[in-house]
Amino acid sequence: MKNIEQIVNEQNNRGISEFEGYSPAEMEYILYKPFEKNSPIQLLKLSEQDYNKIPILNQIKYLLKIVDENGELKLTAKGFLPTKIVANIYEQGFIKDEMIELVKSVLNKNNMKNIINQKKCKKCKLCIEVCPVNMIGVNENGLVNFIQERKNICLECGQCMAVCSTNAVKIAKYTYEDNLIVMPDNGIDYQKFIDFISTRRSVRNFKNKLVEKEIIVKILESLDFAPYGAEPDKVEITVMNNRNKIESILPLIEKFLDNIVKWIDNPIISRIIKHKKGIETFNTIKNHLYPMSKLENYKLKYGDRITRGAPALLILHADKEAEEHTNNSLIYATYLMFAIHSLGLGGTMNGIIPAAINKDKEIKQKFNIPEQHEAIISIMFGYPEYKYKKTVKRDAKKTHWIE
Ligand SMILES: Cc1cc2nc3c(=O)[nH]c(=O)nc-3n(C[C@H](O)[C@H](O)[C@H](O)COP(=O)(O)O)c2cc1C
Ligand code: SF4
Ligand code: SF4
Repeated sequence: MKNIEQIVNEQNNRGISEFEGYSPAEMEYILYKPFEKNSPIQLLKLSEQDYNKIPILNQIKYLLKIVDENGELKLTAKGFLPTKIVANIYEQGFIKDEMIELVKSVLNKNNMKNIINQKKCKKCKLCIEVCPVNMIGVNENGLVNFIQERKNICLECGQCMAVCSTNAVKIAKYTYEDNLIVMPDNGIDYQKFIDFISTRRSVRNFKNKLVEKEIIVKILESLDFAPYGAEPDKVEITVMNNRNKIESILPLIEKFLDNIVKWIDNPIISRIIKHKKGIETFNTIKNHLYPMSKLENYKLKYGDRITRGAPALLILHADKEAEEHTNNSLIYATYLMFAIHSLGLGGTMNGIIPAAINKDKEIKQKFNIPEQHEAIISIMFGYPEYKYKKTVKRDAKKTHWIE
């Protein structure tokens, strides 16, 4: 005689026509534990390509990542997602909403309230002289003022405010209190300048020492004085100041470098890269990265030859379509390198990390870089392990004089 447990088991696992062939045990999973391992409902894992075809899924994935990272997500009193989170998800650019884009552009334009205080203006016209885009003129009433129809071409360089001896000019973005500082004595002559730049060398050996946040903030402040094309704030900087996090990304970068060998060895893929990325990037990959990758120079089995044990990384990135973002990023990186050097730290620009970020979405996500951004350059930096007594003087300039 069958025992009771066996009978119950058989009953529970027998397909029943009213349940469309599912057994009572399966129905329990469907109703109460639909996503558990033994449930008849199994979700297919989508490939990265599939996700990209359905932007809403990318949004959900990103939201789940935020929840995962924070452990929980506090909703507003009315049960909505907090505005900060919604804005963060929107900024990733998975979906562009026409109305939001319109409101953003109108707000930007309306914020452009550049004013000249006519009571303070003594009509010296210096602001007119220095403006790089001829935005200031004398109006029909003989007053020095902004030319309204030119308001959208202001570079926000602040030169007009800086030159005005009576503080009469106001660029919407700046105040005399916060943004205009009295010009310090630069304290530097040509020899001092050369001494400073010649003592900077790319540093690839670092002490195992955290770079303090205050130091990084100082390094970043040097950008407040950097030249730029178009608009100054289109370049964004991601700071990764955590060696464990850097190390967690290294295997992905190693995989990217392994793939470079496969791609360049394949004549069809090689041509596609040349076509899509342009000849400059293609040559950098083929003549620089490919031979190093082929020699397995970057293999992690030899240690970290990618970020060289650096305790901190800076990644400069911007919206792929942002004007002048490549040039601006490289100028900014140069300033950052000098700021790093001036503080007694050392750094090296790194072109492999941005290349890997731009190719591999997983790496991009690890750095929290928005989907529509491209990385231009990165800097690995920290406290130098060694002191050099000598520096290298290269004859790197090819000059053509026209006199
Ligand atoms: C655009 C760019 C990308 C670079 N990429 C790397 C890199 O990926 N890895 C590295 O070790 N150095 C990299 N460097 C640093 C150069 O190799 C270094 O500046 C050069 O060897 C000269 O040495 P110096 O900086 O000490 O004068 C890069 C520099 C630039 C400007
Ligand atoms: S620099 Fe100042 S004082 Fe001179 S014209 Fe311009 S606003 Fe007037
Ligand atoms: S901020 Fe620069 S571009 Fe704009 S009005 Fe002043 S000088 Fe001209």
